[in-house]
Amino acid sequence: MPHTLQESALALNGGERIRTAEWPTYDKGYVDLSQGDESAALRAIQSRRLFRYDNRPHRETEVGQLEQELADFFDAPYVLACSSGTTALALALFSAGVRPGDAVACPAFTFAATPSAIMLAGATPVVVEVDEDLHMDPADLRAKLTPDVKAVVVVHMRGFGCDIERLVSIADSHGVPLFEDAVPALGVSLGGRKLGTFGKAGAFSTQSDKSINTGEGGFMVTSDRDIFERAVVLSGAYEQQIKRHTDPSLPSISDLSLPIFSFRMDEIRGAMARHQLASLEKRVSAFQENYRYVASRLDDVKPIHLRQPVAESAFLGESLIFRIPGATEQQVSWFVRALNAEGIGARGLGDDSRPNNRCFWNWRFAFPEVTREETMKRHQRSTTFLKETIDIPMSITLTKADCDDLVEAITKVCNAYS
Ligand SMILES: Cc1ncc(COP(=O)(O)O)c(C=O)c1O
Repeated sequence: MPHTLQESALALNGGERIRTAEWPTYDKGYVDLSQGDESAALRAIQSRRLFRYDNRPHRETEVGQLEQELADFFDAPYVLACSSGTTALALALFSAGVRPGDAVACPAFTFAATPSAIMLAGATPVVVEVDEDLHMDPADLRAKLTPDVKAVVVVHMRGFGCDIERLVSIADSHGVPLFEDAVPALGVSLGGRKLGTFGKAGAFSTQSDKSINTGEGGFMVTSDRDIFERAVVLSGAYEQQIKRHTDPSLPSISDLSLPIFSFRMDEIRGAMARHQLASLEKRVSAFQENYRYVASRLDDVKPIHLRQPVAESAFLGESLIFRIPGATEQQVSWFVRALNAEGIGARGLGDDSRPNNRCFWNWRFAFPEVTREETMKRHQRSTTFLKETIDIPMSITLTKADCDDLVEAITKVCNAYS
């Protein structure tokens, strides 16, 4: 039985719901696609040239033009479009010399695709703790950099940039390369520089819930010519296609020395991505504006702790993440159910009745020899923080009224929380 007026007002207890419309998410079709995207896809189809390597000059193909436009956007010399964010990251690692048997550090909070990409490159993931705002913890990274660790992958998870300059300097001081899984932070900058350009290479995705949506797809950004050339061949540039990507007068690698994995991007995706890239800044601003509006109204609401960015504007705003410090699993689960009852699509990250791929203890494929419980115990701080965390997707299609519903629902549930 509800004890207080606030409790009885909750939809969970039979009170009126804040909203009856479904909470918009990409998998229900709430995405930002326009007539221009349809025309771009049709243009590629009608050209009857769907493969990136054909008899046209490179600069006339959709994917070739996309790579140049992305290079301009990132102010980086080399971009390789490919089939996904996971393959972009694996290509970067393998091209930089990561080999079977190597260990590669990555944060405890990231989508399972990050350790998967490390394993695709033949290496083993090593978990680094996250701090109270779920960013990779620099002190723990330093502690984890044993001689077995040959590379570091940082993740700008859920669109929040991590303390990248500090992490780069730690990796540098240990002489290991650092890579950015910048998949969720496409278009976000830190101190005027685009995330994804701080490390040896940055990996991005254009899969459906990213700031560019071509269904599937991805790309790698780098300033390192050797990494770029090897990645081009590995992605599937056979029989001297590599020459289309670089100055043909310069010596380039022998493409027969590397396997080809067919991780290429096709022309239809290339055409759609080009169209969306032209308005990427606007898309990023739309995400950020909604996020700022919601976060500013929830800043002082107790007992939640909103995830804090490492710097002003160093976030995309694709999801609202907060913790309830000190809450038990039952309390977090109650909070999520109360929000769901109000019509908000919230999820507890550490809710083991719906195992979440973003929590390291659920990467059973990576640590089969250790039990789930033992894995959690070894990274106690991250376990505690993730268990206290609630994640709410903020689609680019959210209106001001949706944002008001979100704030009202969270405030209502907070007021009834005990
Ligand atoms: C942090 C992170 N890395 C990598 C990926 C994988 O991207 P893709 O699905 O394009 O392989 C995702 C996908 O959402 C992600 O969130």
